[in-house]
Amino acid sequence: MTNKKRILTGDRPTGKLHLGHYVGSLANRVRLQDEYECFFIIADLHTLTTRPEKEHVTALRQNVTDVVLDYLAAGIDPAKSVIYLQSAVPAVYDMNLIFEMLVTLPRLQRVPSIKEMARAANISDETLPFGLVGYPVLQAADILMPRAHLVPVGKDNEAHVEVSREIARRFNYLYGEVFPIPEVMVGEVPTLVGTDGQAKMSKSLGNAIYLSDDAATVRRKVFSMYTDPNRISADVPGRVEGNPVFIYHDAFNPNRAEVEDLKERYRQGRVGDVEVKEKLTIALNAFLDPIRERRAAIEAKSGYVERVIYEGTLRAAEEGEATLREMKRAMGLTGLWNRISRKGREAIERDKKAAASG
Ligand code: TRP
Repeated sequence: MTNKKRILTGDRPTGKLHLGHYVGSLANRVRLQDEYECFFIIADLHTLTTRPEKEHVTALRQNVTDVVLDYLAAGIDPAKSVIYLQSAVPAVYDMNLIFEMLVTLPRLQRVPSIKEMARAANISDETLPFGLVGYPVLQAADILMPRAHLVPVGKDNEAHVEVSREIARRFNYLYGEVFPIPEVMVGEVPTLVGTDGQAKMSKSLGNAIYLSDDAATVRRKVFSMYTDPNRISADVPGRVEGNPVFIYHDAFNPNRAEVEDLKERYRQGRVGDVEVKEKLTIALNAFLDPIRERRAAIEAKSGYVERVIYEGTLRAAEEGEATLREMKRAMGLTGLWNRISRKGREAIERDKKAAASG
């Protein structure tokens, strides 16, 4: 048992993680795992809210292990933190159902990200799944399952954590204090631009550098990166602000003097893109090398990733059982069932005796 406060956060398993995930959330998680008791959820049930098809469920096999391998390679330590598979924790389903009674439909319909997810998945009002409207309720089950104190998420998930807080308050108000009210922690890091200069690095936009990319791939991607579109040759003064190559230098090149020198010469038209990109390639590969080493060590141990998920999920399931038991006791459902089952058993006994003596 520890007295550390608890964190719960995680991801939908939609594939390999990239540098945007690293700066946006992974770096922060790696940092927080000493100070907090961390639970990292692989939220596979949430992916079913937009894609319930069997083929999709089959694709989860690869996606779940890919994400967890990226977690471990990035430095999440299973000796400190629990990594678990949402769909294998029975209490999540039960908690979801109970929480559905504690929030109104209009409240959920005002959550902006639900409309955005529907739009992105080509879902109309007519085909809107009940479960997609309930996405924040399921997320409340995730967050309240280990009775988390703190939830580090991106800006897009802030409204979901707000729903969790309201559900926790409502539960506590109706039945007694079971849940701490979880605090949201919104990443102070802005989203990382894509290699093509688009606002966001994302798999679907094809502008991502993955944590699993090898050195040659990183080099190729860096050399195809967008820079200042108005700079047609190396002797033309260029813009550093908003220039993806310099945003990446700022985020990943620890040699500040080199970065400042490159920026200065870029502004003056005294450095070519090739040198800027060469130095960025070196910096990115130096950043990725320890991640690659950990990945190689993990891949050398057959079944290791599955073992981590298995052990984490057993631990999470135990936690879930304990919370659900508390909830049912507070609600009076335990008392209800105990009373009925006791009287039912007594009636069986009476009937047995009557049959034996009759
Ligand atoms: N909604 C998160 C996402 O955008 C995934 C998620 C599911 C989550 N349950 C969570 C995040 C609980 C934080 C806490 O992918």
